[in-house]
Amino acid sequence: MIAEIIEANKIYETPAGKFSALSKSNVQLNEGELLLIIGPSGSGKTTLLSLIGCLIEPTDGEVIIDGKTISKMSAKEMALIRLNTIGFVFQQFNLLAPLTAEQNVGFPLLMQNLSTPEINRKVEEALNRVNMTEHKKKLPQQLSGGQQQRIAIARALVTNPKIILCDEPTASLDKDSVQIVMKELKELARKGKAVAVVTHDPRLIEYADRAIEVKNGKVETLENWKEFSK
Ligand SMILES: Nc1ncnc2c1ncn2[C@@H]1O[C@H](COP(=O)(O)OP(=O)(O)O)[C@@H](O)[C@H]1O
Ligand SMILES: [Mg+2]
Repeated sequence: MIAEIIEANKIYETPAGKFSALSKSNVQLNEGELLLIIGPSGSGKTTLLSLIGCLIEPTDGEVIIDGKTISKMSAKEMALIRLNTIGFVFQQFNLLAPLTAEQNVGFPLLMQNLSTPEINRKVEEALNRVNMTEHKKKLPQQLSGGQQQRIAIARALVTNPKIILCDEPTASLDKDSVQIVMKELKELARKGKAVAVVTHDPRLIEYADRAIEVKNGKVETLENWKEFSK
């Protein structure tokens, strides 16, 4: 197990008062698996993923990432976990518009203060991994949605993180690109990464090793989840 949330909940403080986005939940994420987190819009999926991703802290309960307990960490330590242990992939790709594909992929390595030759080598490797080497000099706007998401995946894996977290990674893609991106994520899980994919799309279930459902802020194990998509 690489990530675990234990009896963790999230209550957001808003001007209108407290809002419970996620009730006390227990979720484990294992290396070598693609975990699908499915549920309707507004159910708390992004909140759950943000807890696992050390982007937010739980109101109560614990989050343990790679053996480290979040509540005992400083903001700086959380940032280091995000940089070194986790790769993120988002619905809108979140590529930097003025940077080429290869510069986008290399960006996390700049943050890690690696040498230029080392950065170049790792960027090459990551681009090759998602079959995007021939497009490396292009700007994001010169790439299709599916290609941009493959660049975003290359950026997520360039630091060789143990965990890859994806928030609706296929929601902006056409059918063919959905298949390419999900196969890519599944392959990363096969190679030993822990991959979590948040989605509202039941068609993604066929790519999952395991699935959980978030409903009204509650995490539920999906029984017969392979049937869920039918
Ligand atoms: N920072 C926040 N402050 C207040 N409420 C929030 C915040 N983030 C999310 N919420 C609310 O929490 C609920 C769950 O949100 P979210 O986790 O984004 O759901 P999902 O990703 O499943 O659509 C929603 O009602 C949303 O409006
Ligand atoms: Mg969301």
